[in-house]
Amino acid sequence: MDFLPDILPLPDKIEPCPGMFELASGTAIVTDPPNVPNAELLRGLLAAPTGFPLPIRTGEAGESNAIVLRLDPRLAARGDEGYRLEVRPDGVLLAAATPRGIGHAVQTLRQLLPAEVETSHPGTGIAWRVRCLIVEDQPRFSWRGFMLDEARHFHGREAVLQILDLMALHKLNVFHWHLTDDQGWRLAIRGWPRLTEVGAWRAGTSKTMLTAQHNGIPHGGSYTRAEISEIVAYAGARHITIVPEIDLPGHSTAALAAYPEFSCTGGPFEVATRFGIFPDLYCAGQDGVLAFLTAVFDEVVDLFPSPFLHIGGDEAPKSRWKHCPACQSRIRELGLKDEHALQVWLTNRIAAHLAPGGRRIIGWNQILGIDLHPDAVIQYWVGDQKELARAVHAGRQVIMSTFLDTYLDHNHSLMPLSRAYRYEPSLPGLDPAEAGILGVEFPLWGEFVHSRARLEYQAFPRLCAVAEAAWTPRDKKNYPDFRRRLEPLLKRLGWLGVGYAPLDEAEPPKWRQFFGPLTIPFPQTKTAR
Ligand code: ACM
Ligand code: ZN
Repeated sequence: MDFLPDILPLPDKIEPCPGMFELASGTAIVTDPPNVPNAELLRGLLAAPTGFPLPIRTGEAGESNAIVLRLDPRLAARGDEGYRLEVRPDGVLLAAATPRGIGHAVQTLRQLLPAEVETSHPGTGIAWRVRCLIVEDQPRFSWRGFMLDEARHFHGREAVLQILDLMALHKLNVFHWHLTDDQGWRLAIRGWPRLTEVGAWRAGTSKTMLTAQHNGIPHGGSYTRAEISEIVAYAGARHITIVPEIDLPGHSTAALAAYPEFSCTGGPFEVATRFGIFPDLYCAGQDGVLAFLTAVFDEVVDLFPSPFLHIGGDEAPKSRWKHCPACQSRIRELGLKDEHALQVWLTNRIAAHLAPGGRRIIGWNQILGIDLHPDAVIQYWVGDQKELARAVHAGRQVIMSTFLDTYLDHNHSLMPLSRAYRYEPSLPGLDPAEAGILGVEFPLWGEFVHSRARLEYQAFPRLCAVAEAAWTPRDKKNYPDFRRRLEPLLKRLGWLGVGYAPLDEAEPPKWRQFFGPLTIPFPQTKTAR
C-alpha cells in the first residue's frame, strides 16, 4: 500500500487497507447504542454536498453500506478524545469511548472524502469514495486553543459559527473568546444594560498604533443572550469548549464608560478609539465593584457551561490604585504588601465566588502572585518563566501562548507558518510531559483585524499548523510532510470560501523572516485577499 492519506493534524497511527468505500444513495448512518451524538453532525456535513438522504437509525456495527458510530468503552485506553476509524469496502466504523472521540473521527472521515464535500453545490459526477484504512488516534495536549479578540473588532455570529466549524475540522477544542476590553464590551448582561448600550460602541478606530487620531466611523456590536446560547450549543455539538474572557481589573475602559462609578476617579470615560494600555481600572476598594463583577460572572456562568472562565488580568497599571483612597484603605485593612497584591486579592475573590459552582478561573501570567488561588490556571504569554516554572512545579496548571511563537496577529514574516508548526511549549527545568502544561493556545488579537477577510488572512494557514502542533506527538511532527498535507486542506478552505495567506507570504524567504522582527507587527497595509 503506497498511499498516504491527507489527514491534518497527523493521526497517531494509519494503516492502509485494500479497496474503497463509496458513499451512495442507500448509505445509512447507524448509531450503536441509539442516540450517539454526532450522527446529526455527520449527516449535516454529508447530506447536502452528496445529495444522499443518509437516514439515521439504530443498529449494530458490521452492517453493510453504513457509517456506524459506536460508543465503545474498550477504547478508553486512548483517553477521552481518542478514536478508531475503520474504512472497509462495505462500510465505515467510527468508534470511541466518548462522543468527543467520535466527533474527531467524524472530522477525520470528512478529510478523507473529496474536498468538494465542503460545499453544498459541488457539481455533479463526483464519486464520494474513501480509500480503505484504519486510523487510531488521540491528541497530544488536552488544551488546543484558539483565541479571538472581538472586543477590538466585532465580527458577529456568522463569523464565529464558521470559526467553530473550522476549529472542529482541525480538532482544536477550546475557543477562548475575548469579549471585553477598552474598545468594546460585547456581551449582554441582564441588569446592566449600559454595558452594551454604551460599552459596545466606540466613536471611531485609530489609524495607526502611534497616533490618537481616529477615523470617525463608529464601530461596535454585541451578542444577545439568545445568540450566545446558539453559539455555545453549536460549539458543544462540535466538542469545543467556549472560554469567555471578561478582562479585569484593566482593559476595562468600555465598562467604565458605561458605569464610571466603578473606577477610582469617577470618570467620565469614553469607549477607547485607540489601542494600547489604559490607566483606568475597576476600583478594588469599592464593595459595589465586587458586587458588579460577581453579578457579571453569575451571568457568564449562566451562559457558558465551560469549567474555565477567563478573567484576563494582563496589563493593569497601578497608578490609579496608588492614588485612590478606597484602594489604599483596602490595602491597609487587608494588610497587603502592595497594589499587585491587591490585584491578586481581587482575582481571588472572583475565583472563590466561582469555585462552589465548579468553575475555575484562568488569567494571563501577570496575575501570578504568592497568594493566588490554587485552582487558578495561568496562561503564559510573556515575561518571567522561572517564577512560573516554580509555580507549575508546585502544582499550578498552565496554558502556553508564548508571545513570539503563538500570536496570530503578528505578521507572517515575524511568525511564519513553520514557527507556528514547530512551537513546543516549555518552561525552564520542566518536562512538558510531566509538567502541569495543559496545552497550547494561539491568540488572534483584533486591533487591526477590521474585517472577516483580515481575520482569515491572519488565522490561515497558521491555524492548520497550530492544529498539528497541538495534536501530533513531537516525534511525529514533520514540516515537509505537513506542507504536503496542507495543500489539499487549503483546497477544502477554498470550497468553504475561507481566505488564507498565500504560502509565499505565510512562509516568506528566510531573509524576510530575518528582518521580520525589526518591523512592527501591525498594522499591515496589505489587503487580505
Ligand atoms: C496580552 O497579550 N495582553 C495577554
Ligand atoms: Zn480605587
